[in-house]
Amino acid sequence: MKYNIPRGTFDILPEDSYKWQFLQDSFRKFAICFGYQEITTPIFEVSELFERSSGESSDVVQKEMYRFCDKKGREFALRPEGTAPVVRSYVENNLDKLSKRSKLFYLGPMFRYDRPQAGRYRQFYQYGIEFIGSNNPYYDAEVIAISMLWLNSLGLNKLRLEINSVGCPDCAVLYDKALQEYYRPFLGKLCPDCQNRFNTNPRRLLDCKVPSCIELRDDAPSQLNYLDEPCEKHFEAVCNYLQAMKIKYIINPRIVRGLDYYTNTAFEIVYEGLGAQNSLAGGGRYNGLIEQIGGKSVPAIGFAGGFERLLIALEEEKINYAEKPKPDAYLVCLGENVRLEVLTYLNDLRIKGLIVDYDPDKNSMKAQFKAADASGAKYAIIIGEDELANKTINLKNLQTGEQIRVAMNAEDTKQRIRAKI
Ligand code: HAM
Repeated sequence: MKYNIPRGTFDILPEDSYKWQFLQDSFRKFAICFGYQEITTPIFEVSELFERSSGESSDVVQKEMYRFCDKKGREFALRPEGTAPVVRSYVENNLDKLSKRSKLFYLGPMFRYDRPQAGRYRQFYQYGIEFIGSNNPYYDAEVIAISMLWLNSLGLNKLRLEINSVGCPDCAVLYDKALQEYYRPFLGKLCPDCQNRFNTNPRRLLDCKVPSCIELRDDAPSQLNYLDEPCEKHFEAVCNYLQAMKIKYIINPRIVRGLDYYTNTAFEIVYEGLGAQNSLAGGGRYNGLIEQIGGKSVPAIGFAGGFERLLIALEEEKINYAEKPKPDAYLVCLGENVRLEVLTYLNDLRIKGLIVDYDPDKNSMKAQFKAADASGAKYAIIIGEDELANKTINLKNLQTGEQIRVAMNAEDTKQRIRAKI
């Protein structure tokens, strides 16, 4: 019996895992420099959490959630996104009592039952930031800056930052009405999904990918003309902060995020080379969400991006962002007795943090040197009966061919290898 991986998922094979580790470490360090701390939540939550937060009429809830019941019949879902779980944890653990501002980041797999295609998977890996605790537009700019600057730091420059304001719930009511008025005469021309959206969530009409609906979108009213004064001022301030940070953006009033919790700022980072799935990262403010799922009324903003699309973009631009780790040394042993006696030294080298390759199945000197070369090791540590008797090793630099005999001492070997002696 042979088994296949589930559709829309993939294995990260050992050959590639260093790239993932690099991106995880790099994002972690970057977020920490901006004062954010890591939060890890379970990969499943009660389904209702997502229904209440993402929105009953959103595609994520309607079509894309992996739902299951446990043995007691309670309904859970694999998390389709990270914001609702972080907010659940913030409320449940009273994080507001620890500090007025919670600056959180996360890394981990998310799950959406969607039609798989390039850059769209059923299990995908997100990195994200959630800032909870202030409505100051500076934080909108800070969160947007983190999302852009990290991608720039990896070497990606062909990015387009698009920002918009979807206003507060009061603005949204006015805008929804304006959209319904505009679309009403064309109802018959809309796709069946959009005919439903017309009543349940008219803004989603702007996000439809069906060509006849896209055509109608061009003349639809702009969200930005329906902002009240405080929302307009907030948006203006965000733009000013971004300019002060020298972060380039374009205003795209057509940005509709796929999740329903957004208020005011909404943004996406687009990478053209990605085809239909061209959003590398996206996010926005969600000032109503915390109260909506049982907390106090606390403003918040965040974003998330996907590693899969990011990897595609990095490969496309041929950016050498991570180096594949190679062994520091390869241990060449000659003689049965030596093979036993060197094991504590070998373990000590590894405990001290050196990457040391060793293969007890290779016997001849020739076979072991061949393996050392193939492994890409920088040094060979050569030990025979004579060296063992004198508690020494031969340390050979495999690039220069230089060789020295030194004491068999793991700390000393480490120092020499690190100092490239
Ligand atoms: P989202 O736009 O649904 O937002 O997803 C964010 C990013 O996750 C996308 O830009 C994309 O890179 C990646 N992504 C989404 N779905 C898939 C998929 N099926 N396959 C591969 N990558 C995918 C959110 O998830 C919000 N929680 C972001 C946020 C945080 N808003 C506020 N705070």
